[in-house]
Amino acid sequence: MSLKEIIKTAKTLVADDKGLLAIDESTVTCNKRFAESGIPQTEEFRRTYREMIITTPDLGKCISGIILYDETIRQKKKDGTLFVKAITDAGIIPGIKVDIGAKDMAGHRREKITEGLDGLRDRLREYFQMGARFAKWRAVITIGNGIPSRGCIEANAQALARYAALCQEAGLVPIVEPEVLMNGEHTMEQCFEVTEEVLRTVFNQLYIQRVTLEGMILKPNMVLPGLTCPKQESVEAVADVTVECLLRAVPAAVPGIAFLSGGQSGELASARLNAMNVRFKSLLPWALAFSFARAIQQPALEIWHGEEANVSAAQQALYHRASCNRVARRGGYTSLMEKTQNDNM
Ligand code: 13P
Repeated sequence: MSLKEIIKTAKTLVADDKGLLAIDESTVTCNKRFAESGIPQTEEFRRTYREMIITTPDLGKCISGIILYDETIRQKKKDGTLFVKAITDAGIIPGIKVDIGAKDMAGHRREKITEGLDGLRDRLREYFQMGARFAKWRAVITIGNGIPSRGCIEANAQALARYAALCQEAGLVPIVEPEVLMNGEHTMEQCFEVTEEVLRTVFNQLYIQRVTLEGMILKPNMVLPGLTCPKQESVEAVADVTVECLLRAVPAAVPGIAFLSGGQSGELASARLNAMNVRFKSLLPWALAFSFARAIQQPALEIWHGEEANVSAAQQALYHRASCNRVARRGGYTSLMEKTQNDNM
């Protein structure tokens, strides 16, 4: 796969008003979400749930790429069609999460380092043969008393850059995800400072590891106050500081930025993405898109509840969230879209 094709795939992933849908929860995370909703935690329920999502009618109108997990990329629909084929047939590009999780970092209390570089070249080759055309690796940065440390930021940035270089060698577009977590009492200003430092370090490492910026997507957090910070901020304030931070730290050669949702409600994630596009879209060098998991899936998961009879209603809820984000990319989202949906349910 030539670099030209990698760059084309990266552009396609953030083209027009579409975005990514992450359904790459590890088995442990997926089971945790199932347990919270009272759904049995078995491989067959996880398969059925993912089949429900990927067969949502017209999903390809809003979603350019779906991120799968190792278990999921090997699974099939009930009728025997591989998920990867079903996704590709729907006009959506299949992707794969390739990190093996954020583990406690030695010598760095309360901090994490993402693992998965050993043997990655071979795994990427296999995923490419299976039909994946992009990959994802998530690093986790926590804000707290005395953290993040320089050691944690640098180690995670280097791992992201080594992963990205291996992806491009294998013909896959790397989605580079350094997530500054929302958990904590920190202010929006503190999140800004940490996010800027993390992004500058990540792009420095991407340069050192010779990653072609035109052939990657950045998946960052929005700049937000911590979940338990007493001072919460308006949608407009979040939009302004997030774009200010990204303009400082993300080179113009990157084709697109696809935000994670990180635990925001679906409505807030759409409103904030919308505000950024309303206020800045025509001034920015990169596309501002989405790569949400919870902010697209959550209502559908609750409606589905593990029951066949709920599949159609759950798919409608999933499509609704995906289309709200599609409209947010154009700057046309309003809370009225939520009302119409509620009236239809
Ligand atoms: P959330 O949108 O739920 O944060 O998940 C995005 C993701 O893919 C995390 O790696």
